[in-house]
Amino acid sequence: MKHEKVEKSVTLLGVLIAVVISIGGLVEIVPLYFQSETTQPAPGIEPYSALRLEGRDIYIREGCTVCHSQMIRTLRAETERYGHYTLAGETVYDHPFVFGSKRTGPDLARVGGRYSDEWQRVHLINPRDVVPESNMPGFPWLSTAEIDASVTPRKLAALRKVGVPYTDEQIAAAADEVAGKTEMEALIAYLQGLGIEAKNWK
Ligand code: HEC
Repeated sequence: MKHEKVEKSVTLLGVLIAVVISIGGLVEIVPLYFQSETTQPAPGIEPYSALRLEGRDIYIREGCTVCHSQMIRTLRAETERYGHYTLAGETVYDHPFVFGSKRTGPDLARVGGRYSDEWQRVHLINPRDVVPESNMPGFPWLSTAEIDASVTPRKLAALRKVGVPYTDEQIAAAADEVAGKTEMEALIAYLQGLGIEAKNWK
């Protein structure tokens, strides 16, 4: 019997299992490359401004993702607390993603506009000045470090190569947009824009 042959040969069984699992994987993964839900921006989503893009890089560099997710699940408890659940189309311009997988602090996907710029600044310098029980570390050096405007246009150009639709004008204006700004200003600009489009989603 053919089946007996398969059961008695570890190699043949292994190969056939690999084939079946690969087909299962492809059926799940391949459609994601073609569905507009995952490839097209969600309503209102635009490529990051040069300043916010620099802020996002600081967010990644400082390891904010280690304690903060940006991924609201489709569960009542999450949407009641944070707002609209995260859509794939929100992250079409994210290279890399900053979903995160650990919540020592709250999810930040909808934090834009929740506090004033000044609150964010004080909180980032020393969180305990505004949230006494906080165990988030302070990031005071961001207030004095300046953005290196000479690399910003190259960052936009690199992202354009992987499909982010920056225009020539945006790339040309990028250096001026961030010139003289501190890392703190860039990070706050990034945070203040997080999830504001989602306020209009049903
Ligand atoms: C060691 C873990 C840790 C790290 C690293 C960390 N945070 Fe936090 N964060 C927390 C905790 C805990 C809270 C909740 C208490 C508070 O508000 O300070 C918090 C709160 C926040 C809040 C307020 C959120 C809200 O909805 O009230 C913001 C904004 C924030 N963090 C931004 C950042 C940014 C930006 C970075 C990186 C520069 C960062 N955090 C790094 C732990 C962390």
